[in-house]
Amino acid sequence: MKIGSVKLDYPLIMAPMAGITDLPFRRIIKETGCALVTTEMISANGLVQHNKKTGFLLRTMPSERPLSVQIFGSNPGTMAEAAVIAQEKGADIVDINFGCPARKILKNASGSSLMRDPSLCRRLLAEVRKAISIPLTIKMRTGWTPSGEEALRLARIAEECGVDAVTVHPRTVAQKFGGRADWSLIARVKEISSIPIIGNGDIRAPGDVLKMLTETGCDGVMIARGALGNPWLFGQSIELLKGGSPLPITLDERKKTILRYVDYAVEHRGESGAVLILRRMLPGFVKSLPECGRFRREIVQAKTGKQVCDIVCAYFAFTQLLLSRSTPEITSAIDVC
Ligand SMILES: Cc1cc2nc3c(=O)[nH]c(=O)nc-3n(C[C@H](O)[C@H](O)[C@H](O)COP(=O)(O)O)c2cc1C
Repeated sequence: MKIGSVKLDYPLIMAPMAGITDLPFRRIIKETGCALVTTEMISANGLVQHNKKTGFLLRTMPSERPLSVQIFGSNPGTMAEAAVIAQEKGADIVDINFGCPARKILKNASGSSLMRDPSLCRRLLAEVRKAISIPLTIKMRTGWTPSGEEALRLARIAEECGVDAVTVHPRTVAQKFGGRADWSLIARVKEISSIPIIGNGDIRAPGDVLKMLTETGCDGVMIARGALGNPWLFGQSIELLKGGSPLPITLDERKKTILRYVDYAVEHRGESGAVLILRRMLPGFVKSLPECGRFRREIVQAKTGKQVCDIVCAYFAFTQLLLSRSTPEITSAIDVC
């Protein structure tokens, strides 16, 4: 799959997720085989005002490339300026958020609010397109009504403005993240488009990737919540796309990935900042293993990276022991992951 000049080895993309897809998480995702990772949404206003916290979200390293940087805002000039900053800081692709349904974002006429205003969409995309030389993509929702007319309209505008690919998350604004994503809208957008269309929504297992590609004809698949605590979903999906059978993740692989993630988080945020994120993120990595509740209770008490690592190692030693004395029920619980 190609997005403008950026060639992806596999049509698999990690979604932007606020508070989650920071540099450490993206490094882990990349290492499991994901072709393209995306930053969380970054405020265009914050970037142009050189806000320190906003700038931190742009930190990157060569090993995670190609990198897509997602920006949000509503003023065409500010968005163009922010896109240039993203390009200068190492983005390979700039993505514009047309889908966020959060009240705070809608209040500023950004995110999915833009889908109501086609002429503003056109001006905004034209200005950003003119300002940057790297590929430009957008990510949108169904829109404000279930008909999908707003998504079809925005896909046409995007293509006319020189956008290189469109991601469709087919949930309405009112749905937020609940209910089912209506994949039939991905197929409808694909039908009217000549640029790559990326489908998103409800990918939880490798089989879902294949199903979305086949059912909708989309060119690429973007995974969001399915990769939380399960970065291996990318590698397993690639295996399936190559015609193989995805293997279960061993306990050792799981432990090593978590420990690398801890290292990356401490490197990126320092001890105290990292621990706050790790307490929230790590329970997801063991959620279907035995005694995961105990792991969660212990990890929320951790105060340093070293304590986090000790808890992780002790937990996996215990689980390994359980496995070696395993009953068929325990083995199958572990194999599921
Ligand atoms: C915690 C959280 C944060 C998110 N942050 C962003 C974001 O920054 N930008 C964006 O375009 N979408 C964001 N999304 C939406 C996801 O990228 C994705 O479109 C949505 O979760 C549907 O995919 P899924 O069903 O695979 O989770 C977020 C979703 C969640 C749950």
